[in-house]
Amino acid sequence: MTTTRPLFEAYPQLTDTLPWLQLADLPTPVEPLPDIGSNAWIKRDDISHAIYGGNKIRKLEFILADVMAQGREHVVTFGATGTNHGVATAMLCQKLGLRCTVLLFEQPESKTVRDNLLRMQQFGAELKFCGTLANTVMRYYCHPQRFSRKHYFLFAGGSNIAGTIGFVNAAFELWQQIEGGVCPMPARIFVPVGSAATLAGLTIGAALTGLKAEIVGIRVAPSHLGVIPTCTVGTVHQLMKRTCNTLSRHGLEMPAIAAPKLIDSYYGEGYGVRSEAGDKATAKFSGCGIALDQTYTAKAAAAYLDSIEASGEVQLYWHTYNSRPVKFLDVH
Ligand SMILES: Cc1ncc(COP(=O)(O)O)c(C=O)c1O
Repeated sequence: MTTTRPLFEAYPQLTDTLPWLQLADLPTPVEPLPDIGSNAWIKRDDISHAIYGGNKIRKLEFILADVMAQGREHVVTFGATGTNHGVATAMLCQKLGLRCTVLLFEQPESKTVRDNLLRMQQFGAELKFCGTLANTVMRYYCHPQRFSRKHYFLFAGGSNIAGTIGFVNAAFELWQQIEGGVCPMPARIFVPVGSAATLAGLTIGAALTGLKAEIVGIRVAPSHLGVIPTCTVGTVHQLMKRTCNTLSRHGLEMPAIAAPKLIDSYYGEGYGVRSEAGDKATAKFSGCGIALDQTYTAKAAAAYLDSIEASGEVQLYWHTYNSRPVKFLDVH
């Protein structure tokens, strides 16, 4: 495992100005998926940490470094009852001696939900059940400690600017793997999109590295909360702009970056609700030894399989869902 990150190798000036902590096992492997097709590849972020992997660990390397740099002691975040982000945040907060509170809204019951609630408790998080998404968001924004200097308010999914930079770095990581001959340049890279830092960061990183692959986001979360847009091309673009502004302030010359690609048609009946295409993808990937979840990865993998079938080009599925088994250990 490397003890620096490709982003700092590309821009050494960031080393002194951008907070970062080594928390993930990176680089994650890139592997072929011969049982899916001769042009099918997978990026294994499911094993980004020995105890609990998934896409959140990369974000938290930059987020929790930001928390520590600001001298904050208590992270407050929110997510659904099965939140993978809540688990990863609770685990790494415990490791760093930070307090962690997770505000939770209901999602359809599943094994992931049960496992993740147990995991968050085990990692010492304070859990607050708030009912609906709207109520949870209100409790987050109107939290009595909102203006406390000890608290750090972390948007759902770890999708703030620091978290997005974690995925800018991820694009540099894949770029190094392609340059090193580990895998061919894919025509397309598929990722699920919830709070959007994964898609936003990879899209920015691809533009910075010159990675020619098209980054294709599959929307798995509601596009709006009432009239407020929550997961749209516009909201992803906004996160990209804010991140690019921050990177410019750190002295990076930012290229013109195209609008992100976000596909709506795999969302199905709702957040966390299984879909037929997702179930088919789950069965297919299970034959390759890869477990998908119904909320995020099954829907993104369904889009990836359709694209593999429709085109002979090399395509990569970025696997964002933890595959480490439930193991109730303290990570100290
Ligand atoms: C397994 C998994 N995949 C994908 C995502 C979506 O990533 P993002 O929130 O960066 O859009 C999440 C977010 O919670 C997730 O838990």
